[in-house]
Formats: sequence, C-alpha cells, structure tokens
Amino acid sequence: MSVDINTRIIGTGKYKAEGVLTNHDLEKMVDTSDQWITERTGISERRIAPKDVATSDMAAGAVKEALDMAGKKPDDIDMIICGTVTGDMPLPSTAAMIQKKIGASNMCPAFDVSAACAGFIYGLSVADAFIKTGKAKTVAIVGTEMLTRFMDFEDRNTCVLFGDGAGAVIATADQSDRGILSTHLYTDSSLTAALQIPGGGSLEPASAETIANRRHFIQMEGREVFKVAVKYLSDAAETAVKANGYSVDDVNVVSAHQANMRILSAVSKRVNIPLEKFALNLKYYGNTSSASIPISLDEAVREGKVSENDLVLMIALGGGISWGSALIKW
Ligand code: COA
Repeated sequence: MSVDINTRIIGTGKYKAEGVLTNHDLEKMVDTSDQWITERTGISERRIAPKDVATSDMAAGAVKEALDMAGKKPDDIDMIICGTVTGDMPLPSTAAMIQKKIGASNMCPAFDVSAACAGFIYGLSVADAFIKTGKAKTVAIVGTEMLTRFMDFEDRNTCVLFGDGAGAVIATADQSDRGILSTHLYTDSSLTAALQIPGGGSLEPASAETIANRRHFIQMEGREVFKVAVKYLSDAAETAVKANGYSVDDVNVVSAHQANMRILSAVSKRVNIPLEKFALNLKYYGNTSSASIPISLDEAVREGKVSENDLVLMIALGGGISWGSALIKW
C-alpha cells in the first residue's frame, strides 16, 4: 500500500427536504408535547420529503451539490458508496439509482453499506481504503435516509425523533498531508434488537400479518441505546485522537451523528471537547441517521466554520449497534 496517497474531501453537498413537521404538529398526532420532545431530545422540528421524492433523489441532489463544490463532473467519479437503511427498494442498490440520477455514464461501481446511523462513516472508511490502495481515485460517499416513511406515527417513542434528508462528500486521492488520518469501525451485536425494522426481510417476509402488526416500522429501545451511546461514542472519539498523536484540545470541529442533544452534551463533557465545537442542526432536522453527519458537515463548510488544516472529528452510532470515528485534517 502506498503511504503517499491521502484521501481528501474536496466537496460537500446536501438535500434539505422541503416539508417541516414541528413538535406542535406532532402534539396533534400522538400523546406528546413540545416540552417533552425539546427537553428529552433537543429537537424542535424535522424535515419531510415530498411524496414523489425517493431516497435516491435526495442523495442525487446532495451528490450534485458536492460535485459542484469539488469542480468535478458525474463521470469523474469512479465509485459511489451509499449509506442508507431506508433505500428506494431492497433490490437494486440505492447507489445504482444515484448513478443514474446524477447522469453518470461511466459504469463505475456503486453499492450500499448498511450500518444504520454509522453508515456514512462506514462508507467513508471503505472509500478511504479503496483510494489509499490505488483502486479508486474519486469517490462519492452519501448518507441518505427517508426515515419518515418507516415511522409508526402512532408510536410516540419513535415518531418524534426522525427526519428525512441526504448529505454527500466527494473524496479524492491527494498527495498533500491533508485528508483522512484514520477511521475506526465497531459493532456490538449484543444489542441488535434494540433498534430494528423487524419486518420485510427474510426472517419476516412481508405479509398481511406483518403489516397488521406494524412490523415494517422502526422499533427502538431508546433507553438501552442511550446507555451505550455515550460510552461508545466517547471512547471512539478518544481513540481517534490518540491514534494520531493529538490531544482533544487539537480538535477544531466535531461532526457527530445527532440523535439526542443529551447524548452529545454527555459526550462533550466526558471527552472534554466543548459543545461549541460541534456542528449541530438536530433542532431543525431531527435524527436523519446516516445523513446527519454529511448534512451538518456541509452546513458548517458553507458557513465557513471549517478551515484548511482544521482537525475534524466525526463520530456516529446507530443500529447494530454499529459505530465509528473518522479523524480528518481538512
Ligand atoms: N412524548 C411524551 N412522553 C414520551 C414520549 C413522547 N414522545 N416518548 C416516550 N415518552 C415517555 C415514555 O413512555 C416514558 O414514560 P413512563 O416513564 O411512564 O414509562 C417516559 O417518557 C420516559 O421514557 P424513556 O424512554 O425513558 O425516555 P428517555 O429519556 O430515554 O428518552 C429517547 C427517549 C428515545 C429520546 C432516548 O432514549 C434516546 O435518545 N435514546 C437513544 C437514541 C439513539 O441514540 N439512537 C441511536 C441512533 S438512531
């Protein structure tokens, strides 16, 4: 493996779904309150995509924006990696749909990675490996989720949490010392049942019964996930920084998956990185799973909050339980 190749992010983009569902709207749908949602999660509203928009449409919009920023054309991309658990359909991959919708005609490999809310970091890690081994040069990595279509709007435990959206980056082989310094990926399979969509797969194929039993919606044991989230995310953050010979004080920007403000506040305290360094938009988007990091990263980049040579730390955790980190010299 050549050590001279680095993986540098040269473009970011997002798709911001048009519709807005506020906490007050939800008060009319389930037994909840704006106060409960705000205090327990930090979410005020979430975005909802129009009915005629698919997960791959949002992704394609995000990739096109990222390509524009990178100054690249669709056919310059030689790999498309899509993190999603709410793809257009089980077969084919959402990444294949994205290739078509961005207008690429170069038949580059396109595939999905399934790591729930950690899907973007998993995708970034795969892209980094392909680029550093010389097997790919310019890769589009996307996180895209249409979570509101997998939500049980009769279940207040979950329906107040999630939103739709997509974010993307273009990463390319680079000779400078800037780029992805490390990625670390983990899965703890002891908690697979804590966050799942149980119906519609080989275990419980779709049937009138699975539909009647609402098995095609997201189910979550929030408390169980919460317990491990703070520890796993904090440990991942510390490992990423230490592995590269830095201290937490050196981190300029944290781009974290946003599920709950209380989780992020606890991580911030535990690893001693002030919340002011976190790129946050949970209040306006809700939890957008794999899209959460690339959307908030794109907003931070466009607002000028990320400068050349800044140390950017990414951390995410979701169903699996799968989680991970990426440390980037911007
Ligand atoms: N409105 C009002 N009350 C609600 C509610 C809602 N939308 N949702 C749950 N409650 C109630 C519960 O029924 C429970 O009532 P009870 O005490 O009478 O049983 C009470 O509020 C507390 O529920 P609990 O689940 O303990 O709340 P919580 O403080 O753990 O917050 C989550 C719930 C989901 C917000 C929180 O657990 C969480 O963020 N978990 C992690 C999510 C995550 O990181 N997922 C991975 C990435 S997707």
